[in-house]
Amino acid sequence: MTIAPETTTREATTHYPINDLLRRRWSSRAFAAAPVQPEILGSLFEAARWSPSAGNGQPWSFVVADKVRDPEWFARALAVLNPSNQTWVQRAPILLFAITRRIREDGKEHGKAQYDLGLAVQGLVVQAIDLGLNVRQMGGFDADAARDLFAIPAGHDPVVALALGHPGPADDLSDDLREKEQAPRERKPLESFVFGTQFGRVYEGLTSDE
Ligand SMILES: Cc1cc2nc3c(=O)[nH]c(=O)nc-3n(C[C@H](O)[C@H](O)[C@H](O)COP(=O)(O)O)c2cc1C
Repeated sequence: MTIAPETTTREATTHYPINDLLRRRWSSRAFAAAPVQPEILGSLFEAARWSPSAGNGQPWSFVVADKVRDPEWFARALAVLNPSNQTWVQRAPILLFAITRRIREDGKEHGKAQYDLGLAVQGLVVQAIDLGLNVRQMGGFDADAARDLFAIPAGHDPVVALALGHPGPADDLSDDLREKEQAPRERKPLESFVFGTQFGRVYEGLTSDE
């Protein structure tokens, strides 16, 4: 099923050219009610699965709440989010919780567990953009409530939630959120985070207009 996007994308403005998917990725809160087909969801998790990780430990897992398949379960998962996130996520057809394994099998702390999960989530997000979906990540949820609801074992931590679905109209959002959706996207300049020789010293090997 092909669904025509209802919102315009808000491409990154760059001083140097970047990959088209990275340029087109942004975190919209506007979703269509249309379901996300299983084969599309499968592609998202394949993309996560093939992410790099320290020692190939793959310390990630995901819990899925699909509003179309199970509206009651979706409502319970939605309730774990902060109220400000619930207002717009209630329109998304899919809500995911991304979980990392912080304690290894040998009982030792996995110092790169969140990093590895972040790479897997980025893979999933970029794949979603390629498939024409909107995705927005959220740190705003009750981790204890998520742990209880999803029976997350000790040593595993829920890190981020993701709302995703086909693009929908921004008119369904509150005025405040619609304004945020349309606000200019901002980024720090390269000079503020690319250093040469020492932290804080601008790397002179790049040229920039700024
Ligand atoms: C770890 C993480 C937590 C976030 N938490 C929230 C959140 O709770 N609610 C929300 O609306 N957006 C949240 N966001 C989305 C960011 O606000 C958004 O990515 C950022 O403003 C940059 O916008 P862009 O993704 O469109 O480039 C989160 C993003 C990340 C990566």
